[in-house]
Amino acid sequence: MKLNDEEKRMLDGADGEAVRMSMEMLVAIGDIYGAERMQPVSSAHVAGLSLKSHGLAGMEWAEDLASTGARVKVPTTLNVIGVDRSRDLGFSPDWRDPQIRIGEAYEKMGCYGTSSCVPYYQGFLPRLKQHVAWAESSAIIFVNSVLGARTNREGGPSALAAGLTGRTPYYGFHLAENRHANVCYRVEADLKDLADYGALGAYVGKRLGTDTPVFGGMEAANPSLEQLVTLGAALASSGGAALFHMVGVTPEAATLEQALGSRKCEERIFGKKELAAGYEQLTSGKEKKVDLVAIGCPHSSLNQIADIARLLEGRHVAPGVTLWIHTNIAIKALAGQMGYVAAIERAGGLVTQDLCVVLSVPEALGFRVLATNSPKMAFYAPGGNGLPTWYGSVERCLDAAVTGEWS
Ligand code: F3S
Repeated sequence: MKLNDEEKRMLDGADGEAVRMSMEMLVAIGDIYGAERMQPVSSAHVAGLSLKSHGLAGMEWAEDLASTGARVKVPTTLNVIGVDRSRDLGFSPDWRDPQIRIGEAYEKMGCYGTSSCVPYYQGFLPRLKQHVAWAESSAIIFVNSVLGARTNREGGPSALAAGLTGRTPYYGFHLAENRHANVCYRVEADLKDLADYGALGAYVGKRLGTDTPVFGGMEAANPSLEQLVTLGAALASSGGAALFHMVGVTPEAATLEQALGSRKCEERIFGKKELAAGYEQLTSGKEKKVDLVAIGCPHSSLNQIADIARLLEGRHVAPGVTLWIHTNIAIKALAGQMGYVAAIERAGGLVTQDLCVVLSVPEALGFRVLATNSPKMAFYAPGGNGLPTWYGSVERCLDAAVTGEWS
């Protein structure tokens, strides 16, 4: 790879050992993928912070790195962790304490303690064509597709290396020619609920691998931000997509021709039958009795929390059922100020912060059956947490919370 003088200095260790190691890693990645040079980045988002991914050895590695004085050079946000730092949800100290230490080590390196998979709801909003190095599949696909910023599918270590150096290898989705769609879907199903968008993403994602889809027929629907977030999260979890286009909706797809560039594709249809198949794909629950209802994966927006507060008015969560609404510290503070947190808590639910159920250990708290409106949680929780999962609209999930049964 061709490095400029500053990058060579970093590789030679002039900015310390952490930066030297980071540069070495980025050069190795660049060599593997045939990058000719480094690309300055304007931000990084580091994922893989759960104790599940780090283990105790990883926690010590992060603490050692922080103690060398390593500091990020560009704004760097942190993904979810496996606990709620604002309250004790009952996780054992063996889980909670090291998990908190991992987050603190990264914050010592100058990363923002956002602890969320939606840093863009907290004001970290890359612009069109801006190069960034983000990890977390749902955040990657959102910034690439909805904002038109450019990132590869970074892992935790490569995103941290980008934060510490301000660089990423220039290949893949950083190049305009690699950002065109090669699979076309015409959406004929009438998508209304957020969960419908999740079912669309899950169905298409499973059949896509790492290809880039373009969706047509959605201009009139003009999906909300939350619907686009959900679609992306489903595509990136049920498959490996890092980018999607939607004609007339996303910034690199004003027309089908723009989305495709010189590529061609045969149109596939997503209709009623495919929508039903998407729901079926995400449903693994058998027993109707539900003991955990979890909403907010990716973390909830303020609008979603406002809706939930309204839907819970005059109702109460059934005995033996836990209702968690997941978000981050910033959205929770605003939801608190608006009275939504108190309304949800009056109804027996909890608005959590920082926490990701999938990357945590809900199974250790004794939960057996989950209900969610999240396609990503419905994809991972059965295998990752051993929780059979019911998937459906937020209304159905809240009904399950107040009755204790999926209906
Ligand atoms: Fe976020 Fe965890 Fe879901 S990272 S998207 S809450 S699986």
